[in-house]
Amino acid sequence: MVTSSAPGKVYLFGEHAVVYGEPAVPCAIERRATVTVETSEPGELRVHAADLTLDGFTVEYNGDPDGHPDVDVATPLVEAGMAYIQGAIGQAREVADAPNAGFEVHVESDIPLGAGLGSSAAVVVAAIDAATRELGVELTAREIADRAYRVEHDVQDGQASRADTFCSAVGGAVRVEGDDCRAIADVPELPFVIGYDGGEGDTGKLVAGVRQLRETYDFAADTVEAIGDVVRSGEDALEADDFEELGKLMNFNHGLLEALGVSSRSLDAMVWAARDAGADGAKLTGAGGGGCIVALDATERTIDALKYTPGCESAFRADLDTEGVRREEA
Ligand code: MEV
Repeated sequence: MVTSSAPGKVYLFGEHAVVYGEPAVPCAIERRATVTVETSEPGELRVHAADLTLDGFTVEYNGDPDGHPDVDVATPLVEAGMAYIQGAIGQAREVADAPNAGFEVHVESDIPLGAGLGSSAAVVVAAIDAATRELGVELTAREIADRAYRVEHDVQDGQASRADTFCSAVGGAVRVEGDDCRAIADVPELPFVIGYDGGEGDTGKLVAGVRQLRETYDFAADTVEAIGDVVRSGEDALEADDFEELGKLMNFNHGLLEALGVSSRSLDAMVWAARDAGADGAKLTGAGGGGCIVALDATERTIDALKYTPGCESAFRADLDTEGVRREEA
């Protein structure tokens, strides 16, 4: 039996535009998905998943492609969760050349599903690590990132970038531009505050929506490029430890994402509450549509303001997690 965990993430800059080859800067946060894997009967795949949503659920799934798990949460979310886990197990079977290996998988996560904090990437990364180790193979973080990307790419109908999976596998702050993925050294302490509206967005649909907008309107293609410009300026601000400039650029990035139609009333309300409370800057994080915003504020004022913001279900601090995927004691 092997247990591995991997962190979730926030985007300091660049979600959506990264899908079209612009750079992005995601940062791993101290919220993790933990996956325990044990080999079982050949061909079998049983998954027990607790806390993938705020309510938590348990799925007994026998690997039948037509079988639907019998659980009491939004079916698309469960099916997406199952598709990620099945994909991860498929990668492990391939790596170890054990196509018929059976597994019992337990997933626990304190990263809400579909909320923009990289829950699916964290689950896939941790599952690939645990399942390959269980089969006696040890992959590097980069190899895990690469295989996790293939899973996200398949589940999201070819519309995923490498950003979420690379960040979760290696930890810390990273820079992703197309296939070029690297860790960013000497990142200052970033006082992230997260506001969560309790909802979720469908990443596949949101990415498809931006793609269609970009193909229909020149302004949308220009907006995607403008996000790339903001990210490049953001990298300079990060290197100079210039929080005022970083915050300003986060605000620009949010405005551009709004123009692409991926914000929502509750995300905007939380972004404005953070700015009014004196945060350096605030933006939605991840695919949008609902879920989380990220603000930069070293004081408690943004958290306090978010707690009283209609539509905000919870607000919390999220420190940068410098560690990516790791083996846990069972
Ligand atoms: C989702 O967390 C981030 C997106 O940029 C999609 C991706 O990069 O795969 C919206």
